[in-house]
Amino acid sequence: MTLRSLLTFLLAPLAAAAAEPAQGLHAIFEAGGRTDHRVDRMLALQVPAGQPATPWLPAGPFKAHWEGTVEAPVRGIFTLWAESSGKFRLTVNGQAVLEGAGTKSVQLNKGPNAIVAEFESDGKADAHLRAGWASRDFPREAFPPTSLAHASDEVLTQALRLREGRALFANLNCAACHQDAKLPAKGTGMPEYGQNAPLLADLGAKFDRVWLTRWILDPASFRPHSLMPAALNGPDAEQQAADLAAMLTQGATPASGPVADPALAPAGASLFANLGCVGCHRQPDAQGDDALGRIPLAHVRAKWRDAALMDYLLDPAKNWPAARMPHFRLTEEEASQLTAYLLTKAPATKLTAKEGDAARGAGLIVAAGCLNCHAGMPATTQPPLAKTVTAGAKGCLAPDAAARGKAPAYDLSAGERDALLAFLQSDVAAGLAADVAAEFATRNLKALNCAACHAVDGRGSVWKKVDEECRQLRSLLPPKEHVEGEPVPDAPVPALTWQGEKLKTGWMTEFIAGRVEDKPRWWLIGVMPGFSQHAAGMALGLGQQHGFGPKDPEDPKPDPARIAVGEKLLGMDGGFNCITCHDVGDKEATAVFEAPGINLALSAERLRKGHFHRWLLNPNRLDPETKMPKFADGDGLTQLTEHFNGKAEDQFEAIREYLNSLKKK
Ligand code: HEC
Ligand code: HEC
Ligand code: HEC
Ligand code: HEC
Ligand code: HEC
Repeated sequence: MTLRSLLTFLLAPLAAAAAEPAQGLHAIFEAGGRTDHRVDRMLALQVPAGQPATPWLPAGPFKAHWEGTVEAPVRGIFTLWAESSGKFRLTVNGQAVLEGAGTKSVQLNKGPNAIVAEFESDGKADAHLRAGWASRDFPREAFPPTSLAHASDEVLTQALRLREGRALFANLNCAACHQDAKLPAKGTGMPEYGQNAPLLADLGAKFDRVWLTRWILDPASFRPHSLMPAALNGPDAEQQAADLAAMLTQGATPASGPVADPALAPAGASLFANLGCVGCHRQPDAQGDDALGRIPLAHVRAKWRDAALMDYLLDPAKNWPAARMPHFRLTEEEASQLTAYLLTKAPATKLTAKEGDAARGAGLIVAAGCLNCHAGMPATTQPPLAKTVTAGAKGCLAPDAAARGKAPAYDLSAGERDALLAFLQSDVAAGLAADVAAEFATRNLKALNCAACHAVDGRGSVWKKVDEECRQLRSLLPPKEHVEGEPVPDAPVPALTWQGEKLKTGWMTEFIAGRVEDKPRWWLIGVMPGFSQHAAGMALGLGQQHGFGPKDPEDPKPDPARIAVGEKLLGMDGGFNCITCHDVGDKEATAVFEAPGINLALSAERLRKGHFHRWLLNPNRLDPETKMPKFADGDGLTQLTEHFNGKAEDQFEAIREYLNSLKKK
């Protein structure tokens, strides 16, 4: 079988599965004579001047083309709209609807309607596009991701496979051993590329030596799909691992400090549920397979010294900036409760290992390539990248140990090996040289598992799916009477679907990084944990997916008269009574038990203008479960006719202006 026919054979089932329409639109980009394909969750884009539209294209002028369907809830008249920095054309069910920015009313059929959209940028200024619809039932909005679908084809499947291979190549650090002068310098190009693995410092103080030996031999046996391969093989592997473990733990004194107190375990169990650890992790005493693919913690007792585990929970990225485990800003008390829970519930597994020789280990740590990943040392003994390209499914990409030979063993699925092969056969250096924030956000939404806690595009969170598990974990503590005004564990967590258009990039960056002191939803025990290394790219990329750049337009000059009206409209006396649910700065809401809202003094730094209006015009459209009332009717009028003739948008804008005037100096 030639490689090509082998690939076609392997991928046939994929192609068949892809015949079902999938969410999002098929996007086709052209620039500098090259073409690239991907799936976009929105009919929108934002490409800063001087940057490429996709990682595989040159910067400069480009064309984008989207195809797929938009699903209308009913047959009827919809107003389609577009904002565009360049040439734009929208065709629906074969009919040209929009030429350039603007609005147009058209009849849509109930169910899927075929759409084709074309956009062209001269590459001189930032390119942006947003398109969507409005109807009598809902205000103007971008097409929701849940309404868009596309059929896949071989070209698109191949482009997505290439993207998967690229992400694996960077995250698995293939270039640490297989080098090439053409590869971008570390710290440039795709952000995930060239990141060092954890610093191997003080391991004896942190970890059990026997565990360490077993980990070095086979990381995936503790953490499936570990980014670290089993780097040793052959008949001496067990002894070599023991030698390395001896070297890495030599002369260490175990970290001293508090020892896990079993009495704290029930409080830790509650936290494990209430902070959303359950979204990413299995319980330490869980058995059997996990249908949700969560990360096991069953080995923590065999691995960690008590004080070291507590330190880790307090700052998981301390020895590894690229860590994916987020930072919860735990108090010492919370960290000790979680530590107690993890260490008392995990089984006391007895692992065994040979005694090692630290001196032999010291020689091995370089020879085995450990430091290529862990300290960024240049590769010396492994085949150069160019050789892996022509090798095919051999070495690290071999399906079994016999074919793998001396190469390290990664825990890869057949699909992942195919994706890596596809990427190796492309122009690897060019593929890593540049990145696009919109795609960074797509990749890392998955890699960082944001969906552990957040619903996204109509798909519920893992946290929500394991509700029953959470209840059981909480029940280990004696039941407590709920005190009014105290946070609860089970209030809704906001969906991520619209965050890219909702939150200003600057605030979102700080918030995802875990650097914002305010906790918007004070009534929720759960917190947004910090992902500091990824925050800027996530915030920028989510914005780009919705057609927004990092800078919002300047607000109009404040008008004292409108500000005064805005303040009145917020209140109880001739206003909408917003302050029954919402705190405003230091002023506490008057009746929060109904449905607490976010402190409105945060609006100015948080919310983009368009989203503020969209939310107020129809909160239920954005969040079907919200208890925030709708104040405007289908004609855009409110019941308060005293100001602006009852025009909702003007009234809401006055409120927004008032809120802007409260902005922290
Ligand atoms: C720790 C160093 C190291 C890392 C990291 C590594 N490899 Fe390898 N790779 C090797 C060694 C060693 C061999 C085997 C050379 C031999 O058999 O002599 C090899 C062989 C290969 C081969 C076969 C080359 C041939 O000529 O037969 C391919 C393909 C390959 N690796 C791909 C990858 C990919 C893809 C990744 C990332 C997922 C990766 N490697 C990561 C060390 C590494
Ligand atoms: C968004 C997913 C996510 C959430 C939520 C999360 N973790 Fe993690 N955790 C990870 C990942 C991924 C790792 C593996 C290390 C890494 O990649 O940084 C990890 C590693 C760990 C480890 C080390 C495991 C080992 O093998 O030694 C512990 C302990 C842990 N997490 C506990 C917690 C606790 C307690 C919480 C809740 C406060 C929590 N995690 C929440 C993703 C998560
Ligand atoms: C291809 C890169 C790579 C190679 C080669 C590699 N590691 Fe790792 N190692 C990692 C990554 C990445 C992690 C983090 C674990 C994860 O995400 O699954 C890790 C984790 C570890 C840890 C746990 C560190 C901690 O603080 O939790 C130890 C110990 C370790 N590696 C030792 C070794 C030794 C010894 C070797 C050589 C035999 C080696 N590694 C080879 C990438 C690598
Ligand atoms: C452990 C659970 C958890 C994980 C994992 C998580 N979040 Fe959150 N996130 C939350 C909670 C809880 C809130 C609400 C916090 C509040 O308002 O007080 C939140 C809020 C947010 C907000 C602000 C929304 C708003 O309207 O105020 C954004 C943006 C966000 N998360 C993005 C992300 C991204 C991106 C990821 C993945 C990198 C992620 N989150 C992963 C729990 C999580
Ligand atoms: C019955 C209680 C209630 C009333 C009355 C109410 N809201 Fe809300 N509001 C909410 C809730 C609940 C949310 C959603 C909180 C969340 O995202 O978790 C919300 C969200 C908001 C948001 C988004 C805040 C953010 O930063 O994410 C704004 C802006 C807002 N409300 C403005 C108003 C204004 C202006 C009024 C009066 C015209 C008003 N609300 C009246 C309950 C209320």
